[in-house]
Amino acid sequence: MLLAAHASIKSAIRTGLRSTATSRVMSSGASTSASLPPGVEKLRSLLNGAHSSQSWDAAWKAGLTPWDKGAAQPALVATLDDEQLGALLPRSGRAAVPGMGRGFDAELLARRGLHVTGVDISETAVEEARKWLDAQPSDAAHERITLRAADWFAMQPVADDAEEGPTTSSRFDLCYDYTFFCALPSTLHDKWAQAYTRLIKPGGKLLALVYPIQGDRPGGPPYSVDPERYKQLLSPAFELEHQAPPLVRGQDREEGLEQIMIWRRKADTPSAL
Ligand SMILES: C[S@@+](CC[C@H](N)C(=O)[O-])C[C@H]1O[C@@H](n2cnc3c(N)ncnc32)[C@H](O)[C@@H]1O
Repeated sequence: MLLAAHASIKSAIRTGLRSTATSRVMSSGASTSASLPPGVEKLRSLLNGAHSSQSWDAAWKAGLTPWDKGAAQPALVATLDDEQLGALLPRSGRAAVPGMGRGFDAELLARRGLHVTGVDISETAVEEARKWLDAQPSDAAHERITLRAADWFAMQPVADDAEEGPTTSSRFDLCYDYTFFCALPSTLHDKWAQAYTRLIKPGGKLLALVYPIQGDRPGGPPYSVDPERYKQLLSPAFELEHQAPPLVRGQDREEGLEQIMIWRRKADTPSAL
């Protein structure tokens, strides 16, 4: 597995990590400040730099969810379907999706066989996810997903056999991060890394769909995203097993805006940084 990991890192380096900054408006609604789509501009002005359950809930209540694509991310689908990459990720056990939104990717992970905890700080997001999941035909959507209206950064690990509360959970085999990092101001980056460090089991994985990679730019969300920042934050407690552009890009997305990173939680570092 390690060899496969090294091979995939090497192949990524060979093909070039095309993290070209771009000023083009993106299909998700993210863009440079010069050309913000109306939904993103309204979202920014409503949040006004605040990061709280009230501010995110207000965005959901106002229907300001410009990231919402109505389906699982193509890059995630392709990653799970790929033989080599899929083998790096668990097919059973417990997964978490912080900042899950309406739950499209959580449902895909549940169909893969994982018991998924979807966490969103907005109660309205959780209600919307419940509605969407209830309308899905898959048994997984009904049987293998638990929803929590909670601040991911408040989640604390408990023993596997302990009862879980609203902000406690046993540790996860897999966490999936997509448009969660970019929803956070940089003042929360340390908390972001600390939460994954304490909530992922030794040997467990963090699958990050790193997006939108546009170079350094002011404001957010989406805030600036840089794979090098992920390395600074995660390297103390995680080993990088794979880094490359996704096998399939998001709809209407230019090359270079997305990367897949797969991180393995080291066994020999403390769970609290
Ligand atoms: C940009 S949206 C992405 C939603 C989802 N990942 C998607 O792509 O459809 C970010 C989400 O993170 C949630 N969020 C923000 N801060 C959070 C926190 N500290 N804990 C849990 N959820 C949070 C917001 O309410 C919002 O639904």
